[in-house]
Amino acid sequence: MGIRIVSTRPFSDQKPGTSGLRKKVTAFRQPHYLENFVQSIFDSIAAPKGATLVLGGDGRYYNREAIQIILKMAAANGIGRVLLGRGGILSTPAASCVIRKYQTFGGIILSASHNPGGPDGDFGIKYNTGNGGPAPEKVTEAIFARSKTIVEYRMLDAADVAFDAVGETSLGNMKVQVFDPVSDYAELMESLFDFAAIRNLLAAGDIAQPDAQTSCTEMSPLRPFPQSAGYASNVSGARFHIKFDAMHAVNGPYAKEILERRLGAPAGSVINAVPLVDFGGGHPDPNLTYAHDLVEIMYGAEAPDFGAASDGDGDRNMILGQRFFVTPSDSLAVLAANATLAPGYEQGLAGVARSMPTSAAVDRVAQALNIPCYETPTGWKFFGNLMDAGKVTLCGEESFGTGSDHVREKDGLWAVLFWLNILAARRLSVESIVREHWAKYGRNVYSRYDYEGLPTEAAQGVMQHLKNNFATLAGAQFGKYTVKYCDDFSYTDPVDGSVSTGQGVRIIFTDGSRIVFRLSGTGTEGATLRVYLEAFEADVVCHHLDAQVALADLIGIALQISELKLRTGREQPTVIT
Ligand code: G1P
Ligand code: ZN
Repeated sequence: MGIRIVSTRPFSDQKPGTSGLRKKVTAFRQPHYLENFVQSIFDSIAAPKGATLVLGGDGRYYNREAIQIILKMAAANGIGRVLLGRGGILSTPAASCVIRKYQTFGGIILSASHNPGGPDGDFGIKYNTGNGGPAPEKVTEAIFARSKTIVEYRMLDAADVAFDAVGETSLGNMKVQVFDPVSDYAELMESLFDFAAIRNLLAAGDIAQPDAQTSCTEMSPLRPFPQSAGYASNVSGARFHIKFDAMHAVNGPYAKEILERRLGAPAGSVINAVPLVDFGGGHPDPNLTYAHDLVEIMYGAEAPDFGAASDGDGDRNMILGQRFFVTPSDSLAVLAANATLAPGYEQGLAGVARSMPTSAAVDRVAQALNIPCYETPTGWKFFGNLMDAGKVTLCGEESFGTGSDHVREKDGLWAVLFWLNILAARRLSVESIVREHWAKYGRNVYSRYDYEGLPTEAAQGVMQHLKNNFATLAGAQFGKYTVKYCDDFSYTDPVDGSVSTGQGVRIIFTDGSRIVFRLSGTGTEGATLRVYLEAFEADVVCHHLDAQVALADLIGIALQISELKLRTGREQPTVIT
């Protein structure tokens, strides 16, 4: 088996985005495309000879082929051992867990997260460092710089490796150790949460009626409160029903093992549990639009008590109660407020962090707990330094991402187990817990509008137009809202002092309400413009439950000041979350 040095030419578009390099499968299948990027990783990370790397992916189309290429290139680049998830499967949080547990030099994760898969879908590759987290910007910049000058890559001439059974094989001088992708992760979850209490909840499910004091006088026709039909079935001794939608993505095997086998949820509690290369043709993104199988069940007549879904690579989560949607920003705040109920967090939280566009709901909890709250740019990589320095325990993003310092990635199933632990301890419905939270802290009503696949120039034009108008916007009045200030968000990392600029336009109003405009860094077609809307409501008892109604004024202001319709020709967003 010899090492082949292959001549190549650089591609100009290998700049890692919010979360690694994401492109169409067709782009990755161009000759040398994946190889160039992988060699750029090896050239930039300078792993010592014999180093160990973790490897795996979300099982999407091209996962297995990419793994063969990466293994042969790793062997040719002096890597000593690769820990590979069986079948090439490894969720993003499990990869982070394994990198940390076995103290490997780093890991390569193959995923385009929530983007669709299949031959015409998306693929992605991301490097994580030894702390288990996404490579920081200085590393991704180095990889990008290398990709622009690369002239050759190294590849071992060898037969393909079999990786569908646990065991160890050799590839040249390198060992490939195929491991069960679920067990280390499941063990970590058992160390953080009270599995006995959750088992009990799932077996008995004795949840209380909602507290009358937190009830709302104006009810949404969709989400009746306080007495929904579902509550009647939750008499003492009745089973607490859950549904978890794995969306034909990587978390299926994890959820089956943890929720059904270890926690005793009845078979069938996990749906769409088999990972498929094209996610069954769906968009593996856990939100009200794309997780429609689950949404239909949770808003149906016989709705279970708790519903959840996760995305392609298992790091995102959506939490639902009976006919009740928990916004990710609220979910983070609820977890922070109730954290000490879970054994892994009973010592309390060092601090919390959220991405800038995420609502300030968690800020209010941090204030009450008297712990610091950090506001970072979008993308998980910014949380790593804060966690490594012991400054924060919990963090989250509005984009259905929640996590803690147990790993250095967001973690979908972790969030689900945290909620189940809280429900087991408090014996209240999901809706009651959230309402009680709003009654105590106020409510940050929140929604995000995504305009996907815009012509790049039009999207950039909207952003530029907003920036050009900062001076005239400051102090301007729109109905009950007065602009306090506007800026283009920049962040100075409190740990290493690195500065990230141009992270999104913020229009902040005097009452704390906000409109944020940002261009996505994960899309693969044209540009995606995200508009984030947040209105603070101190009095939750008597305001309208429907976020879209509560945010109508802010939406109008956002469209007006951005000239979005005029500049993009779009009347409606593609997705509202
Ligand atoms: C999106 C989300 C962001 C998340 C990222 C990776 O990035 O908005 O919060 O960290 O996916 O899951 P964006 O497309 O907005 O750059
Ligand atoms: Zn993801």
